Amino acid sequence: MPSGSSHSDIPRHVAIIMDGNGRWARERGLPRREGHRAGAESVREAVETCKEIGIKFLTLYAFSSENWSRPKAEIKALMELLERFLKKKAPEMHRQGVRLHAIGRLESLPKSCRRELERVIEQTSSNQDLDLVLALSYGSREEIVDAARQLAREAAEGGLDPESIDCESFAQRLYTSEFPDPDLLVRTSGECRLSNFLLWQISYSEIVITRKFWPEFKKTDLHQAVEEYARRHRRFGAI
Ligand code: IPE
Ligand code: IPE
Ligand code: MG
Repeated sequence: MPSGSSHSDIPRHVAIIMDGNGRWARERGLPRREGHRAGAESVREAVETCKEIGIKFLTLYAFSSENWSRPKAEIKALMELLERFLKKKAPEMHRQGVRLHAIGRLESLPKSCRRELERVIEQTSSNQDLDLVLALSYGSREEIVDAARQLAREAAEGGLDPESIDCESFAQRLYTSEFPDPDLLVRTSGECRLSNFLLWQISYSEIVITRKFWPEFKKTDLHQAVEEYARRHRRFGAI
């Protein structure tokens, strides 16, 4: 452990805002969907690298609530790509011991996509090497509102004392209740914002922003982000 570090060098949970597919394509004179296609390859590589490093949870921001405001053709291309990715890559992920999860308002996804997602989630449910969480039609504010609504419902039904609500019981109603909070948050393409991603869960995550576009984010880049993480001194408010 490097001096000054007060945590394990290996983050247990890495979350990634996979940004910059469109700009990567534009720089090459290609349609945006080609950027998304190339981005899917980086997903495969990120999963493999996490396994190599010994990271146990990887959460990928794949489609936000706000992304529904994009042109219909781009949304269609993204959904088709997701479905194809699941069909093509599921056997390999399964072999690698990857367990798939999805968070977000999944009911908004096209039926065929949802079916494929549910199939792979079910198929991989007993795998234990890496938990891969796809954030799809995901918005952190919506997630927090859903949790508040759930608590209000339980209180109105009489089973829950409002005074008993604390951070832990709140977190238990989030879509991420089964997962630890991310230790490391990576955002590609140089944007310094959260774009409605895991607002509650990243309260104390270490943030690494790289200028690389997502399709160019490869094994060495993830290794570098983890090395940067290992150099950080996490204090959690203490001294
Ligand atoms: C990230 O790349 C993928 C999604 C948000 C679905 P973008 O599509 O946002 O690419 P840029 O940011 O426009 O370059
Ligand atoms: C964030 O990227 C969402 C995903 C990576 C899925 P965006 O490209 O949608 O974010 P903004 O619009 O630049 O904030
Ligand atoms: Mg973007």
